[in-house]
Amino acid sequence: METTDAQQGKDFIEKRIFGKMPDGQTVEKYTLRNASGMEIDVITYGGIITRWTAPDKNGSYEDIVLGFDDLQQYLDGNPYFGALIGRYGNRIANGKFSLDGETYTLATNDGENHLHGGEKGFDKVLWQAKGESVADGASLELTYTSADGEEGYPGKLDVKVTYTLTGDNELDVRYEATTDKPTIVNLTQHSYFNLSGDFTQSVLDHELFLDADAYLPVDGGLIPTGELRAVSGTPFDFKQPKMMGKEINAENEQLALGKGYDHCWVLNPKEGNYGLAAAAYHPKTGRLLEVYTNEPGIQFYSGNFLDGTLPAQKGGTYGQRAGFCLETQHYPDTPNQEGFPSVRLNPGETYSSRTTFKLSTK
Ligand code: GLA
Repeated sequence: METTDAQQGKDFIEKRIFGKMPDGQTVEKYTLRNASGMEIDVITYGGIITRWTAPDKNGSYEDIVLGFDDLQQYLDGNPYFGALIGRYGNRIANGKFSLDGETYTLATNDGENHLHGGEKGFDKVLWQAKGESVADGASLELTYTSADGEEGYPGKLDVKVTYTLTGDNELDVRYEATTDKPTIVNLTQHSYFNLSGDFTQSVLDHELFLDADAYLPVDGGLIPTGELRAVSGTPFDFKQPKMMGKEINAENEQLALGKGYDHCWVLNPKEGNYGLAAAAYHPKTGRLLEVYTNEPGIQFYSGNFLDGTLPAQKGGTYGQRAGFCLETQHYPDTPNQEGFPSVRLNPGETYSSRTTFKLSTK
């Protein structure tokens, strides 16, 4: 019997043209497949995951991430759908921080604060891509060099993000960066999941587990106050799986500030510094998403700012809470907060972060 390409893993990755940037540069779309039939589309603009199919408990595959079918819709503006986020995921108060006595000024693109890397963060740049088949799956290496001073950040930053889809329905995301001057880095992935596969439904019927005894309360600009507050007895307690919607409308100052959940949870320390941080489960379809990481925090964002103005891929629009994000990261505003784990990167060091999204059913 002849071995097919699939058996050799040769066609687990495919490259197509997705569109053209206004300046004429080509944006490519890579489809990563695995031996069991999962597919993930990633475009070189923003490293965005535009489509991710996962089976339900009956084996029926559906797209589980919010996105668009064409480049123009991404270029027209959207709340970071599926994108890589950098140089600094989440907020920096007043767009200012100091390093070794020097003050740096970043764009204030979220009220008076800096959010997700600025006006043109890593979600809006073109990445170089190199794809290959691996055992039962595929891997895509994305690289980008951020010039010294880009978006106000010091140091030339060389960034590499590797997406690997394994045969076990895991997407392993590895982030690496090096710099030529002391700087700050905090990279993450901003996929909006809806495990029902029906983007006209809200995600409030998903059950969420967060391995965190504390979270970071915020001020009116969603900047952490510096306090690590115990979750016990509050709507922020997801130590036992609980429906996302169960207490989202409870009388609670912090929920009011975030218009729902938009907070960073302080993950409990893990043996070996890498482990299960979060799990989301959709009972009707049986889809289960587990998130493993070596990061100290995770931002759970319940899609509060989606407002029904963006067209959904399979018809209708993306309404409030049509998707949730689980953004693994260091804590927001760390450069201005004493006592938060450091986000500093020095020349000669390698920033290294890892997050694995594992899909299964139960
Ligand atoms: C992050 C932020 C949110 C929001 C979304 C995108 O999750 O914390 O406040 O900005 O990104 O809308």
